[in-house]
Amino acid sequence: MNQPRWDRLLLNATLATFADARSCGVIEQGAIAMHHGRIAWVGRMGDLPAAPATLAASVLSLDGALVTPGLIDCHTHLVFGGHRASEFDQRLNGASYEDIARAGGGIVATVQSTRAASEEALYAQALPRARMLLADGVTTMEIKSGYGLELDSERRMLRVARHLGRELGLTVQTTFLGLHALPPEYRDRRDDYVSLVCDEMLPTLAGEGLVDAVDAFCEGIGFSREETRRLFDRARQLGLPVKLHAEQLSDQGGAALVAEYGGLSADHLEHLTEPAVAAMAAAGTVAVLLPGAFYALRETRLPPVELLRRHGVPMAVATDCNPGTSPLLSLRLAAGMACTLFRLMPAEALRAVTVNAARALGLADRGTLAVGQRADLVVWDARQAAELCYWIGGNLARRIYVAGQPVSRRKPDRRSSSAA
Ligand code: NIG
Ligand code: FE
Repeated sequence: MNQPRWDRLLLNATLATFADARSCGVIEQGAIAMHHGRIAWVGRMGDLPAAPATLAASVLSLDGALVTPGLIDCHTHLVFGGHRASEFDQRLNGASYEDIARAGGGIVATVQSTRAASEEALYAQALPRARMLLADGVTTMEIKSGYGLELDSERRMLRVARHLGRELGLTVQTTFLGLHALPPEYRDRRDDYVSLVCDEMLPTLAGEGLVDAVDAFCEGIGFSREETRRLFDRARQLGLPVKLHAEQLSDQGGAALVAEYGGLSADHLEHLTEPAVAAMAAAGTVAVLLPGAFYALRETRLPPVELLRRHGVPMAVATDCNPGTSPLLSLRLAAGMACTLFRLMPAEALRAVTVNAARALGLADRGTLAVGQRADLVVWDARQAAELCYWIGGNLARRIYVAGQPVSRRKPDRRSSSAA
């Protein structure tokens, strides 16, 4: 008898491959093989080269269950101290996000609780959130700093992000967001803070291997286009890719700026205009839509989805998981909200959390089911791709594989507390 040639083989699957340019790329009665952490074969069962039992050490038949690439959450602020549930009350009583920020709440409130938290405490608070995203099918996530706003606290956040990736076996891409808010101690010294971020914090943290990309909050209550440009120039010198919180509450010209730097993504974009859409298309910058923040802030102005389509700008969707504007712990729900609130079609919303989200992180080795890609995949309690954004809530992820290995989503009895 022939030696099995693959580690694992899944049969009788409905495969959503996302391997073509537009659709979910569905293969009915499909099979997918994993070997040495990669996808080794994908196609119709009937086209397998030999009897399945002879082909892999482990063979599992799925009865038509949907299989997708592991989902990719390309914009989160998952690591933070405390929460801001009281701001929910304030907003429901009529205060705007900007009112709260200008009164010393908002991001700065989370900065206080993050600075006060030890690395162990930050890790212990973030771990259950990361597990919830994973349980819902996320195998790659981006995590930003930006609630420290001083070197040691920013470092702690980024170290915790890396630690979460190691602990859960997920890929975590870190983003330095030093220009998230002006810390109160720099109230009258904006330039000094921008210099500190650009000339000290970023080079130091990048030198420690803690930074995969650089982001800023370009907004009236955040940082100006010129301040953002200083940061991007420094990122460029360091060889780091850039992305931007752009055009969320007003049009600051941030998307055109990030496109000028060939950035990975411009994120939020409710106030994006057509010239900036064209600039993004030319630069290959991904539009990251964040319906959780739109929903929680009860925004009414929609991102210009039709313009993005017309110009061929790839759209990604992310949770923006954060304690202020988007306490959202399900990427599947974010995809569903992108359909209901932003009018994406289900196939677009699913491409937005797989292949396009991979592109928003600059990762070419995932986001599709194709030979040679990382074997990060999810077997769902569903048969049609659209179900993933159609069901609101629930727990649909039946099995999750990361680099070809099944992941356990159960909480260990004893909480791991080492932050090393
Ligand atoms: O993506 N807009 C800026 N940053 C976050 C919100 C952070 C916060 O309010 O804590 C966002 O919406
Ligand atoms: Fe954000």
